[in-house]
Amino acid sequence: MKITELVSKIQGEFKISPFRILKILSKIEDKDISFYLKESQVEISQRTFDFLVKHLKEGYPIEYITKKVSFLGNDFFVDENVLIPRIETEDLVILAINLINDKGIKHVIDMGTGSGVIAISIKKQLPKTKVQASDISESAIKIAQYNAKKLGVNVEFKIGDCLDPFLKEIHEVELIISNPPYVETSFIEKSHLLSYEPRISLDGGADGQNFFKKISKYSHLLKTKYLLFETSEFTVKKTAEILSEIGKIQILPDSFKKERFIFISPYR
Ligand SMILES: C[S@@+](CC[C@H](N)C(=O)[O-])C[C@H]1O[C@@H](n2cnc3c(N)ncnc32)[C@H](O)[C@@H]1O
Repeated sequence: MKITELVSKIQGEFKISPFRILKILSKIEDKDISFYLKESQVEISQRTFDFLVKHLKEGYPIEYITKKVSFLGNDFFVDENVLIPRIETEDLVILAINLINDKGIKHVIDMGTGSGVIAISIKKQLPKTKVQASDISESAIKIAQYNAKKLGVNVEFKIGDCLDPFLKEIHEVELIISNPPYVETSFIEKSHLLSYEPRISLDGGADGQNFFKKISKYSHLLKTKYLLFETSEFTVKKTAEILSEIGKIQILPDSFKKERFIFISPYR
């Protein structure tokens, strides 16, 4: 189908501007929007058309169509086995990199690594830091390993629950960073926008705090460490309370001024 035909079909059905259609198309096909403006007779495949409709009708994420997300300047592979990394998490990584530099931290772990964006971005910026990462999902770990290889970094990935895979070396670890599942179950069930991402990457239980409650059980092992967590601006205070036994808590904002990060440092 020609681009002009596609635009008039989509415009009629979804009532959106031709510019917005071309913008989405340019993302799906990874082309500059000017290409479609110049080449109005270009043929668009049925596959691209079907994806465009699926995105507009059902909110199917474009990142799962292109299998790609840009995170701090690097392209990461993603598919339906991993969460689509969010822009706020870039702020979490920047906080971690500054902290590692400030405190001369040599050993970091990333819990719930998903596509590996946090661990891999830290290792890319700071190649001398030892970076390990874990996830409970075996398919996520395979994707993280693929991304590390593609981006040429050496991160050790382990499959397992929470801190379990690191209990042997926990005494050496200086910083633990995590963007865990923290969305309330009832919110996920209501939101069609979250319906394509793995439930395990989002679902924090009835109050969104399951993962943090698990972590607080390890507090005796964590009192000498720095910890950095991402959570929701709506539940950050509740999370801070759960983790307060570990150390001194600071709540930090993301670049949109939403309070969503929890930084824990040792009481000493
Ligand atoms: C919100 S996603 C974050 C993924 C990635 N770090 C990012 O920021 O894009 C949470 C990740 O934690 C993993 N996860 C969930 N429960 C876990 C647990 N108990 N132990 C380890 N990983 C877990 C999920 O499989 C998912 O990949």
